[in-house]
Amino acid sequence: MSTPESTAGRPADDRVVCLADFAGAARAVLPADVWDFVSGGSGAETTLAANRAALDRVAVLPRVLRGAGVPRLDTMLAGRPAALPAAVAPMAYQRLVHPDGERALATAARGAGVPYVASTLGSCPVEEVAATGADVWFQLYWLRDRALVVDLLARAEEAGCSALMVTVDVPVLGRRLRDLRNAFRLPAGVVAANLPGGRDDLAHQGTPGVSAVAADSGAAFAPALTWSDLAWLRSETRLPLLVKGVLDPRDAALAVSVGADAVVVSNHGGRQFDGAPATVTMLPEVLAAVDGRAEVLLDSGVRSGTDVLRALALGATGVLVGRPMLWALAVDGRAGAERALSMLAEELRDALALAGCADPTEARDLRVLTGGDR
Ligand SMILES: Cc1cc2nc3c(=O)[nH]c(=O)nc-3n(C[C@H](O)[C@H](O)[C@H](O)COP(=O)(O)O)c2cc1C
Repeated sequence: MSTPESTAGRPADDRVVCLADFAGAARAVLPADVWDFVSGGSGAETTLAANRAALDRVAVLPRVLRGAGVPRLDTMLAGRPAALPAAVAPMAYQRLVHPDGERALATAARGAGVPYVASTLGSCPVEEVAATGADVWFQLYWLRDRALVVDLLARAEEAGCSALMVTVDVPVLGRRLRDLRNAFRLPAGVVAANLPGGRDDLAHQGTPGVSAVAADSGAAFAPALTWSDLAWLRSETRLPLLVKGVLDPRDAALAVSVGADAVVVSNHGGRQFDGAPATVTMLPEVLAAVDGRAEVLLDSGVRSGTDVLRALALGATGVLVGRPMLWALAVDGRAGAERALSMLAEELRDALALAGCADPTEARDLRVLTGGDR
């Protein structure tokens, strides 16, 4: 694969005119097993498909003659200013899709004024990601070794990360059949750069019918966490705490009761429990349970500015965008990611203008019709 410098002269693909178009372009350049790892879901991929279908069923009633002009996009996310009501979702091993990996994507996020969430399983160390100058939030996977958790938290704080996002929907890794069929493993040179060297050898071992990445995560992640562990984590850091991977409103209320500043309504992009509902289906109930005591973000299936508007109109503070950012990174490194983020901003600006909103806050007053109402 080539570096952003060497691809700088590559003509942009003129047929990529929206965020979702990066999928086809990425598929053309990625090895088939990496495409499957990035784009696939778990089980029969029912939840993966449901995320999209449910977003498509959300109709937003536009307002007219409100003098909205050119809408502003800036907002507050996790209590901090952001240029858009969106952040780049935490995603593992970004050097799988481009040699500059996390550094390139975080640099693009900095340029767009969008927070970048650095995964525990990053293939560049969090210190290097933070050095890009982006507003970096650290995503924590809870490891079996609590000393490592404490160490990661200290490193993230020391590096200047501005928020902590703990992911709670991975007691075990979802059964991702494409990865099993491909006997997916990390190529040499792509490692979990935040974790002690040598421990991720498992992730590089090819065994027929086995996902080496799943085997590695299974060995590393703590499988039996409870709300008291989360309360402990809350007491360990002064950073804003976001709890990612909540679908049941009762869990959202529990997260707030232990001091979460935000919950992220997420089914991991359909990669964990196949059979879970689409996130947008659960958003209204989660918002009711949280009742304004914390921010509520949404991810899983967000592919356009219209999807961002849908989430805002339902009451979310903002969204995380996952796969489209990896597809764009695969296609053209940092430049591809910059292009994707600027498309998202343009799409959101258009969607707000067409719905008669001057800014993201006004979008929260729009009426929404779902499913059979339409
Ligand atoms: C390749 C890949 C790797 C991911 N790695 C992580 C991770 O390390 N930590 C995490 O909390 N979520 C991870 N996720 C889930 C994303 O943060 C996010 O919830 C999901 O991608 C959102 O759905 P979308 O891709 O449809 O936008 C990953 C997703 C993908 C596609």
